[in-house]
Amino acid sequence: MRILVTGGAGYIGSHTAKALVQAGHEPVVFDNLSEGHRWSVKWGPLVEGDLSDGALVRQVIATHGIKAVIHFAAHAYVGESMHRPREYFRNNVTNTLGLLDAMLEAGVCRIVFSSSCATYGIPRNVPITESHPQNPISPYGESKRAVERFLYWYGQAYGADWMALRYFNAAGADPDGEIGEDHHPETHLIPIAIQAALGKRPFVEVDYIHVTDLARAHVLALHYLLGGGESAALNFGTGEGKSVREVIAAVERVTGHRVPVREAARRSGDPRVLVANPAKAGRILDWKPQYSSLDTIVETASRWHQAHSPGVAGPDQGVSGWVAQAGERSLPATYAISGGGVAVEPPPGRR
Ligand SMILES: NC(=O)c1ccc[n+]([C@@H]2O[C@H](COP(=O)([O-])OP(=O)(O)OC[C@H]3O[C@@H](n4cnc5c(N)ncnc54)[C@H](O)[C@@H]3O)[C@@H](O)[C@H]2O)c1
Repeated sequence: MRILVTGGAGYIGSHTAKALVQAGHEPVVFDNLSEGHRWSVKWGPLVEGDLSDGALVRQVIATHGIKAVIHFAAHAYVGESMHRPREYFRNNVTNTLGLLDAMLEAGVCRIVFSSSCATYGIPRNVPITESHPQNPISPYGESKRAVERFLYWYGQAYGADWMALRYFNAAGADPDGEIGEDHHPETHLIPIAIQAALGKRPFVEVDYIHVTDLARAHVLALHYLLGGGESAALNFGTGEGKSVREVIAAVERVTGHRVPVREAARRSGDPRVLVANPAKAGRILDWKPQYSSLDTIVETASRWHQAHSPGVAGPDQGVSGWVAQAGERSLPATYAISGGGVAVEPPPGRR
């Protein structure tokens, strides 16, 4: 089946394109390459374009005979969204509404949507189940929650079938080493700590689900909808929180190199613990993480980063010291885990 994968040149989208092909589907990647990479599109064609181009989206859906959509394309820097809500709402909300219009006009009514744990805001209790109140504390989280609400109403009014996958922190790389994470700026703890251990970069953060497990979740969500399953929002995490120190210890174990660490104050306003209860995904989709032990995540990511310096695999260059919050990208600086913060620094002279 032909599946439109918006944002399929990005990190999770490219791993999902591979999982789709492995499951017998034909992904058609639609990406403006603002964050994604041409080299990561290895499974199916790349249509280079922006989601705001409604005519192009319609044309792609028609000419490729698209039957369902997996929608990753978005701006995803939590911290940046605090300063640029207009851009976030335009890309994540307005452009998604345009995509939904194009789909409905073409009679394509199934969508798997990248939502986020950022829709929950500060957790009242952990692990977080899907019924936990959604009170986002950033425009980014707000944009994801808005789309979830639209999907609900589009289901009611137009019969759209949807799955909103609320990822916690995607991590790791394709176990075959074909693709991996290459974000600019990189803000996720594991690649940052690995790059620091390898002397490739400064800095730091937490909580992880292997990207290949997440990619598989999209295929299962798609099959569930194709089989007539009822629309739902599902959490995708491991159910276990990892501290920064645990992550750094794993990186040191796997790479055999020390990660230079500097203690730092915790940022106020960040949730201290963001852990998913993924039981519903297990029940509904029969999904079980296979690769999400910390060591496997770090091993696959480390193999990828040893083979690919940031930006080397693709045209982008340059990194900066941003750090992560709850899986998405956040404010520049050091950051936090329960009780205290940790910043990873490069060895002297290597910054
Ligand atoms: N990485 C995580 O841990 C995480 C956690 C929760 C949710 N998410 C969500 O998952 C999705 C994918 O995340 P990712 O880490 O792979 O991000 P990514 O930046 O690697 O991928 C997003 C892709 O969308 C493309 N894109 C953005 N705006 C576009 C537009 N207007 N038109 C066409 N293409 C556009 C980018 O070029 C990029 O390739 C995002 O929606 C993100 O919000 C990610």
